[in-house]
Amino acid sequence: MPLADRVRNPALKTKIMSAAAAAALIPASANVGMSGFTGAGYPKAVPQALAQRIERLHAAGEVFRIGLWTGASTAPELDGALAQVDGIEMRLPYQSDPTVRKQINAGQMQYADMHLSNVAQFVWFGFLGHLDVAVVEVAGILPDGRLIPSSSVGNNKTWLDQADKIILEVNTLQNPGLEGMHDIYYGTRLPPHRRPIPLVSPGDRIGEAYLRCDPDKVIAVVETHQPDRNSAFAAPDETSQRIAGHIIGFLQHEVKCGRLPAELLPLQSGVGNIANAVLAGLNEGPFNNLTAYTEVLQDGMLDMLRSGTLTMASATALSFSPKALADFNANIDFYSKRIVLRSQEISNHPEVVRRLGVIAMNAMIEADIYGNVNSTHLMGSSIMNGIGGSGDFARNAYLSIFMTPSVAKDGAISCIVPMASHVDHTEHDVEVIVTEQGLADLRGLSPTQRARLIIEKCAHPDYRPALLDYFERAQRDAPGKHTPHLLDEALSWHARYVETGHMLPDANPERRLRRA
Ligand code: COA
Repeated sequence: MPLADRVRNPALKTKIMSAAAAAALIPASANVGMSGFTGAGYPKAVPQALAQRIERLHAAGEVFRIGLWTGASTAPELDGALAQVDGIEMRLPYQSDPTVRKQINAGQMQYADMHLSNVAQFVWFGFLGHLDVAVVEVAGILPDGRLIPSSSVGNNKTWLDQADKIILEVNTLQNPGLEGMHDIYYGTRLPPHRRPIPLVSPGDRIGEAYLRCDPDKVIAVVETHQPDRNSAFAAPDETSQRIAGHIIGFLQHEVKCGRLPAELLPLQSGVGNIANAVLAGLNEGPFNNLTAYTEVLQDGMLDMLRSGTLTMASATALSFSPKALADFNANIDFYSKRIVLRSQEISNHPEVVRRLGVIAMNAMIEADIYGNVNSTHLMGSSIMNGIGGSGDFARNAYLSIFMTPSVAKDGAISCIVPMASHVDHTEHDVEVIVTEQGLADLRGLSPTQRARLIIEKCAHPDYRPALLDYFERAQRDAPGKHTPHLLDEALSWHARYVETGHMLPDANPERRLRRA
């Protein structure tokens, strides 16, 4: 559909301009709220034009950086382009871009890693400073100026409401059939005037299909004709299939024990290959009439909708591989009856997650023997991506499941460690830990009971003896016996890896030699 048919508001038609002209309207040091969530629905032309402008300005000796706020991760055209020209002063609330990650970990970019459900309300509270400009991708503009959202909603409602100025990118490649799939809730209030969110089932519609937008604040309308990131997922490998198998077996057991209904409870599935593999396992598994109340809809959930295993899915973004996208576009009428896209403050809302009794399944980097989970940091100090929505779901879920392969980096790293080198999810928010080795059901257990189970069920056999040895010595020698730790040793596995390239002593003399 051409641009003229997508921009149906006469006043906004007059504001159509090039991406370069629009980018020139963004002031230095501005806080800019851009759309985009897990590589979907992010602006593509304006960020690249802004990056070119910044490059020119920096070459001329001027300093130009912005505060970049989004829904979650974006793509090379946004995060990558702006980071490459050193154009980002402060990034929030989530990223997964290699250049951005490198700059954060080099101390060259500030990064505020936040629970994704908190971002919108923090802006309304005034906690994050002033929002100067919104740059939002949309699928179209109605005659009355309301906006047809794109393939993600994220924080767009808040950006449009709170920013002084708005730049709209109309993506003529997005499927017009997206219209009607969204549900934008305008009932949020600030404390003490809040009311319950009136959502009692994943498919409920509680808002409007369009984003409201004050046309007087719109300073530019730009055309884009580019696809979303759409990266492919790895085919499920043996490790992820075994993790999926353990989870499915556990859910079946819970149904048998009467702790879950036959159609389970709404599923939330995190990002990444393992999460996708678990969904593939569920699609072939014994369950039917499932629902999802999740953050991102990946390929796995689309397959489940197609097969009928899943009857309804609520999310804030669509993040598909090229193959899944082709299926989605070809069958959009089918999917639009079964998918609701919401603002991330609602898709991840703690109140709603608790009410619905969501089963949360998220990947992690490491867990310690007591069940504390690290989702974000490598070796205690380098950020990987961010906490994303994992905390929104884990703390409030009916069941919170965390999963990882038992080892990383060809076995040089154990993902079960004596003490987590960073904690995103405390022992109090983690009910189940799963690796390809097995599943530890931690409900109702004390720390020492948890430790025995995690070591026995989840640790890799190469690391099990060393973990048991640590745990037994800690039980004997630690001053407190509730959560026994040997403080001078608890993080020694990480320190050893940083120093030698392996967590076990003398495990890899060749690598140690190379480093020396
Ligand atoms: N120590 C060091 N590195 C580790 C590690 C550990 N304990 N565990 C994994 N890694 C490395 C892997 O080797 C891999 O590195 P590579 O890319 O250089 O090969 C990388 O981390 C990713 O690991 P992988 O096993 O492929 O996991 P994934 O793609 O499923 O991602 C997370 C796992 C935890 C990074 C990812 O799920 C994430 O960012 N989670 C936080 C946000 C979240 O949960 N969002 C969902 C909420 S809705």
